[in-house]
Amino acid sequence: MTALLVKNIGILQTPAGSFPHGGKAQGENLKLRDAAILIENGVIREITDGGRLPQGSEEADTVVDAEGKLVTPGLVEGHTHMVFGGYRQHEIPMKLKGAGYLDILRAGGGILDTVRKTREAGFEELYGKTEGFLDEMMALGVTTCEAKSGYGLDFDTEVKMLQVLKKLNEEHPMDVVATFMGAHAVPDEYKDRPDDFIDMLCEEVMPYVKAQGLAEFADIFTEDSVFNYAQSKRYLERAKALGFGLKVHADEIEAIGGSQLAGEMGAVSCEHLISIDEKGLEALAKGGVTAMCLPATSFYLGADFAPARKMIELGIPVAAASDFNPGSCPSLNLQFVMNLACIKYKMLPEEVLTAVTVNPACAIGRGDRVGTLEKGKQGDLVIWDAPDMDMLCYRFGSNLALQVIKKGELVS
Ligand code: NIG
Ligand code: FE
Repeated sequence: MTALLVKNIGILQTPAGSFPHGGKAQGENLKLRDAAILIENGVIREITDGGRLPQGSEEADTVVDAEGKLVTPGLVEGHTHMVFGGYRQHEIPMKLKGAGYLDILRAGGGILDTVRKTREAGFEELYGKTEGFLDEMMALGVTTCEAKSGYGLDFDTEVKMLQVLKKLNEEHPMDVVATFMGAHAVPDEYKDRPDDFIDMLCEEVMPYVKAQGLAEFADIFTEDSVFNYAQSKRYLERAKALGFGLKVHADEIEAIGGSQLAGEMGAVSCEHLISIDEKGLEALAKGGVTAMCLPATSFYLGADFAPARKMIELGIPVAAASDFNPGSCPSLNLQFVMNLACIKYKMLPEEVLTAVTVNPACAIGRGDRVGTLEKGKQGDLVIWDAPDMDMLCYRFGSNLALQVIKKGELVS
């Protein structure tokens, strides 16, 4: 048995429960003062407050003094595209000259440019690069993350990307949850034949990915000039029949029915939602779908920000994630996402904490294990160089994570 004790915690702040928190519950956090937490064999054994120490503390192999600082659950990153070849910094001048995200994609660049580079990259190269991203994320306070395929758009490369994630989940301290996103763009070989491409994904790739246990979720980019409502529905129906949890990239640029589809199909989350309309909001609320909002993407695209306040008013659980990818968000800094959620979405610090812990944990099927600090959950936490959550939402551009603990072990 190994045990780790964190003592002298100024404030231990955490949402409670293993369900997506919407409406009023989004802003409900437990705040324990002068707290301590004992983690045994990676699992939380006891949390105390008022200066008391948990029973068995004297047997701890490692004692960490939090020196009166803030402790929260390890952050949960609910949406990334972190396996990719190359970068796309050359798009910056194009953007400055006025080219929009979809203009670049329609001209054969954007996602398709990264697809070419990802097809060329070997397994080891992708593994090493993604491992570096995981290290960086962990140093910023993330202890569990989601990652999507979708830069292969053919059988071999989609499978290669997912195998990279599977191996990293086994070998890196980060918990990595994989999503199959073969329907991320229409590749050149299927140009003008998007329906045939969807058929190929549904009949050849998806069943293999499922059979090999390479992904738990399936996602699609439902957008003007990418995949329409009918194609998205067909893809998601097949994914559902095969037993994948569903996610939809919807209303990023234009609302073409993606969020309604997410509601109708019982998707676990719907992502982006910058242009969501009333019907979409209604569908998410009715379907119990978590809104995965990506404010750093809005920032980088110079776009509007998703109506997160309105979602909270409607009782829709809001999660906030980075969307880390080489095109629309070349940053993996979830602390910056928290700053943006506060300043641009006008979410309160308590609501922000829920949006980067329990809500994304539930949206990636890990709500029973991570996302809150409670007896029996995984011992994943961050000691922040901050006295309270206000400070975390206020300072931006610096890394305030002092110590990151994953399953009861210091990892950063
Ligand atoms: O979520 N919108 C679609 N996919 C990614 C961007 C991918 C890329 O540009 O490489 C996103 O923003
Ligand atoms: Fe995305």
